Amino acid sequence: KLDSDQLIIDAGQKQFGATNCSSCGMVYSADIPEDNFQHTQFHQRFLDSIKYVGWKKERVVAEFWDGKMILVLPDDPKYAVKKAEDVRRIADNELGFQQVTLGRPTQAKTFLFINTDRLVVGCLVAEPIRQAYRVLEQPDENKDMTKDDFMERHRAWCCSTVPEQALCGISRIWVFSLARRQGIATRMLDTVRSTFMYGSYLTKQEIAFSDPTPDGKLFATKYCNT
Ligand code: ACO
Ligand code: ZN
Repeated sequence: KLDSDQLIIDAGQKQFGATNCSSCGMVYSADIPEDNFQHTQFHQRFLDSIKYVGWKKERVVAEFWDGKMILVLPDDPKYAVKKAEDVRRIADNELGFQQVTLGRPTQAKTFLFINTDRLVVGCLVAEPIRQAYRVLEQPDENKDMTKDDFMERHRAWCCSTVPEQALCGISRIWVFSLARRQGIATRMLDTVRSTFMYGSYLTKQEIAFSDPTPDGKLFATKYCNT
């Protein structure tokens, strides 16, 4: 029985095998015309959005062996603000946010991580805040998850009802799918903590993540505990 099941699975994979585009990262089935079409539509627009031509007065806030970080502020020249918006739109799209609206647009700081291939592979939007609600750890009994628990896990995180003081809100953090798990998000946050407020290094308690996704929660939990 096992063998025949296996055969069916293999045949299915051949026919509808998922391809992972090595430039844009989209996972799609090359054999399904609709999928192919969607990939073609997405591919060029995505690469145009993350392509970084650079500008003379860029504000470099950190340099690494595999790239650099720049900061874009709302009053910067149009081309800089537009690039930050383009990348933010890509991130929002992936996060499932409907439109690009920031809490306090005039105070938002957009940090971009640019790799050595001149692609924007990371984006972090930070805004000044006064207080935040701490995300609470999931109780242990939730680990044996039923389907309903699974839905719940994706809907909302359990938040404390007691507001705590915080200074810097991370409203978005996004790393290009093909550049994840290389410490880019970690380095972006470290840099934000040292540059967000002039002359002080923010503690991990003074930064807060708004509405974290499952990926975001895993990352934030790891980041805040280390
Ligand atoms: N699953 C489990 N652990 C993870 C994950 C994950 N998906 N991502 C990060 N971690 C943990 C790991 O312990 C990792 O260390 P390791 O690689 O040595 O094991 C550690 O966090 C540090 O990870 P980084 O490499 O610094 O994180 P990365 O650059 O991959 O970016 C991010 C993480 C931003 C969450 C990325 O996965 C992403 O862009 N995801 C899609 C968008 C998203 O969900 N963003 C968060 C939204 S919440 C918000 O914006 C407020
Ligand atoms: Zn592609």
